[in-house]
Amino acid sequence: MDIKDKIRKLKKERNAVILSHYYQHIEVQEIADFIGDSFELAKKAKEAKEDVIVFCGVYFMAEGAKILNPTKTVLLPVKEAGCPMADMVTAEDVMELRKKYPDAAVVTYVNSTAEVKAVSDICCTSSSAVRIVNSIPNKRIIFVPDENLGRYIAKQVPDKEIIPYSGYCQVHQRVTVQDVEAVRKAMPDALLLVHPECVPEVVEKADFVGSTTQIINKALESKNKDIIIGTEVGVVDFLKKKTSDKNFYLLSPKMICANMKKTSLKDVLNSLENNVHEIEIEQEIMDKAFSSLDRMMNV
Ligand code: 13P
Ligand code: SF4
Repeated sequence: MDIKDKIRKLKKERNAVILSHYYQHIEVQEIADFIGDSFELAKKAKEAKEDVIVFCGVYFMAEGAKILNPTKTVLLPVKEAGCPMADMVTAEDVMELRKKYPDAAVVTYVNSTAEVKAVSDICCTSSSAVRIVNSIPNKRIIFVPDENLGRYIAKQVPDKEIIPYSGYCQVHQRVTVQDVEAVRKAMPDALLLVHPECVPEVVEKADFVGSTTQIINKALESKNKDIIIGTEVGVVDFLKKKTSDKNFYLLSPKMICANMKKTSLKDVLNSLENNVHEIEIEQEIMDKAFSSLDRMMNV
């Protein structure tokens, strides 16, 4: 039996579902029951009927799954697969900002810890951020932790005052205007699709800005044959597997998330065999974080 068959067998025995983000290795995506962006995965996790959710992604995603579906066993195959951006803001930082701007609502990107979600008013993902901010009555919004996404929202919702925190995703932040100019010069007719975690100067130069799934949909729908992908390389791997009718290029070879790439098939198997790493969250944090996440799911 090869490793994929072993995983499938164990998955059945344990009544488990495997969820994978698009940034995972292609062989991990292939073994998953569902591949999605942050919002779609949170939705799948919330609706999961199976006893066990194996989350092939990073820590905050598995934590979110546990918060949204607390009676399930949620496993993150590699405990050390974290998101550096999620660790850039603490609950204390948020409380300080609340003191400074008492009239502001706190909107928190899901790329954050459960503790930070617990002191927030509502969460958002990159696909829902503009919609969420528009749904809030407050004129002033504290947005944590991604500054680039905060600045992108501010442009889309000019009637609100967005106070962005200074966090960032290393993978998207690394891309420069010079990288964009170089690909534009090499492929002037190609379509450039970027993630809003990129710096504003890069976002400005793109043909389309969206979440991972929105980028994928745009790439597949477009009549253009040459598509430049301005997000993590896993998206290019997914698209190349999906269709050979188009040419997909990565905006910059720097766009690899080392944390997303920590999970291998061996880790998925080990996770199911030995119940590692089981997500556990303090009840009080869990209840408070649930409110912020559930509000997001309902907008
Ligand atoms: P989305 O899945 O919402 O596009 O977010 C990208 C990301 O950086 C996940 O860590
Ligand atoms: Fe975090 Fe960026 Fe990796 Fe997403 S791509 S998990 S935001 S470091």
